[in-house]
Amino acid sequence: MKLQTLLFSMLVALPVAAQTIPIRTDHTDLILKVAPNHRLYQVYLGERLLDVGEYDHLDWDVYAASDASVSQRGWEVCNTGGSEEFYEPALGITHTDGSQTTYLYYRGHETKAVDGGTETVIRLADDQYPVQVTLHYVAYPREDVIKVWSEILHHEKAVKRAGSIAADGCIALQAIHSTILYFRRPSYYLTEFSSDWAREAQMSSQQLQFGKKVVDTKLGSRAAMHAHPFFEIGLGQEVRETQGEVLMGTIAWSGNWRYTAEVDNAGALRILPGLNPNASAYRLRPGETFRTPEFIFTLSRNGTGQGSRNLQSWARRYQLRDGMGPRMSLLNNWENTYFNFDQEKLTRLMKEAKTLGVDMFLLDDGWFGNGGHARNGDSAGLGDWDVNRSKLPGGIPALCDAADGAGVKFGIWIEPEMVNPRSDLFEAHPDWAIRLPNREYYTYRNQLVLDMSNPAVQEYVYGVVARILTDGHDSSGQRDINGDARVAYFKWDCNSPITNAYSPYLGDRQSNLYIDHIRGVYNVMRRVRENFPDTPMMLCSGGGARCDYEALKYFTEFWCSDDTDPVERLYIQWGFSQFFPAKAMCAHVTDWNRQAPVKFRTDVASMCKLGFDLGLRHLSADDLAYCQQAVANWKRLQPVILDGEQYRLVSPYDGNHMAVNYVSQDRRHAVLFAYDIHPRYKEPLQNVRLQGLDADRNYQVEEINLMPGQASSLKGNGQVYSGDYLMKIGLEAFTQNGLQSRVIEIKGL
Ligand code: DGJ
Repeated sequence: MKLQTLLFSMLVALPVAAQTIPIRTDHTDLILKVAPNHRLYQVYLGERLLDVGEYDHLDWDVYAASDASVSQRGWEVCNTGGSEEFYEPALGITHTDGSQTTYLYYRGHETKAVDGGTETVIRLADDQYPVQVTLHYVAYPREDVIKVWSEILHHEKAVKRAGSIAADGCIALQAIHSTILYFRRPSYYLTEFSSDWAREAQMSSQQLQFGKKVVDTKLGSRAAMHAHPFFEIGLGQEVRETQGEVLMGTIAWSGNWRYTAEVDNAGALRILPGLNPNASAYRLRPGETFRTPEFIFTLSRNGTGQGSRNLQSWARRYQLRDGMGPRMSLLNNWENTYFNFDQEKLTRLMKEAKTLGVDMFLLDDGWFGNGGHARNGDSAGLGDWDVNRSKLPGGIPALCDAADGAGVKFGIWIEPEMVNPRSDLFEAHPDWAIRLPNREYYTYRNQLVLDMSNPAVQEYVYGVVARILTDGHDSSGQRDINGDARVAYFKWDCNSPITNAYSPYLGDRQSNLYIDHIRGVYNVMRRVRENFPDTPMMLCSGGGARCDYEALKYFTEFWCSDDTDPVERLYIQWGFSQFFPAKAMCAHVTDWNRQAPVKFRTDVASMCKLGFDLGLRHLSADDLAYCQQAVANWKRLQPVILDGEQYRLVSPYDGNHMAVNYVSQDRRHAVLFAYDIHPRYKEPLQNVRLQGLDADRNYQVEEINLMPGQASSLKGNGQVYSGDYLMKIGLEAFTQNGLQSRVIEIKGL
């Protein structure tokens, strides 16, 4: 018997005091226990128990069915492939000897205080193989959020057998999940978020019956195009906004993720969030630690409204880059000019940005590439990050000077992980692109994805970003007259999924590509964040395909969708708001859906991080005056809209209207947004009842964002009401007019 095995069997033979490991937030208990077989089980996940002494009543098999064949199995916290568990494993390993069986035994645990919460670290190990798994749970009491991930480490020996894939001592991780959660409730309802270009975050629900529901993505470089990495599960009833128990969870991973919701034969629900195993049996070297993506969840007993506020508030405090800081409004040139611009045109737009009152001008795609690879369309130039000298002879410094002259900040677009085959970069480094050596490549939007698993490519991409961020320097140094960085903002795009999945760098470890590629992307993003901590950055991915919680660490905001039709945006923003704070969600006023008045379009964008992407020359004098006023109001109300609590009041999925209100943290100030989409003729209208106000406080109600010369038709405008009244009776904020909107400021007295 090997020494390690001997020591472990001695340990197992010792009597263990039943270990209880509580993971607690203010309202949720996740209770784990070590059973006499030394394995770790989930014994409870639900509303926090008042008396911790009663944890003693909880058994590891308490929820198991009475059927003898399953009664002793319990709910293992990291159930493993090849064990007596017959359902989807949280972790599946092929060892170097070819065995696919792993058993994990409890070795110890510690807890420690971390920023905002408590981290519990639990060590597990196999008794036959030198494999250790460490489970991390961070509980954030105030926000009722739990973050969980695992780490896998092994010291297996290489197998020198001819033909063995383990000649290098790698084990293969066949199934990699961040955790597994179990529930036993009478019924389960899943709300998922499907997606497509210009159709992000579309919500639909279904009851989960026996068997599995799997939602995943295989796009490689972006979390979404078909589905987003977050979900809601109504426990015991359908998902509702203000009541009922609901689990809301999200996988923090920008690449191939997967979640499985499986109802077993005993009626229990198992939820497994993790990495997509498709073409990704990860080969892990001895001594190397594999860290799974984080899974972040909240369990609300008051519906998704409370769950969203938990996550929004947690994301602002602990995940979103500069989550507590202010945000800049902007004017973007993409839909206004596309690739057709020069210095003069951009200088004019910078002045328009100033006229509008926004903080910044953002230059989009088309400013780089020279000669035969000039970026005058989307088929060439990507990868060649030198300024196009015929469009912009003065380069980035001249653009920064022009922005300074106009009195706005300057931001710039990049897409550094992609390359056009028609580019100097691809001609110089064809082996830096992900593509098959023995087949014709195919592209998406004329792009190939750079192989970010290759450290040389990571270095190149970081260098591109760093150079652009410092390229605005002039002889006076790195800062503008206000002391700010000259390139003050970045929009980082990522359009193509991984096509032709083969890394010229990884050689025979191709099954690591999807994971190592994303890790390479994060390496670069981490370096950018470290070295340019003060530069806010928007993450874009052909619209909103990279809205995931890991990316939030590196970006201050994300582009929700290229679809800026305000009616569609009501649905898209409703969907994303389930998981993301308004502060992280960019919304621009554009020319999509010109039937909608500029006021309606602006009021929809004002619910999130406001920007514009249209030519002011096309606005009437009244529309321009309206926009200037709306920008000023949005800036003034940032502490309420972006830093307050959000209450979704009327869902666009339920009819012809939508309403949301935001309340400042001290509950003295609120803003109500109400939209009429396509009301029916003589449709009976409901009052909009606000939420989150202080019932005992009086508030003055005033409609803002009115068109010049227009008086408010809101009943009770200017009057004082108690919070109690506004929450129980509400305001007649809806109308029977299509595409009409109201923004109502509620000021505490
Ligand atoms: C896709 C983005 O979603 C757009 O906003 C724009 O930046 C284009 N890329 C530029 O090519």
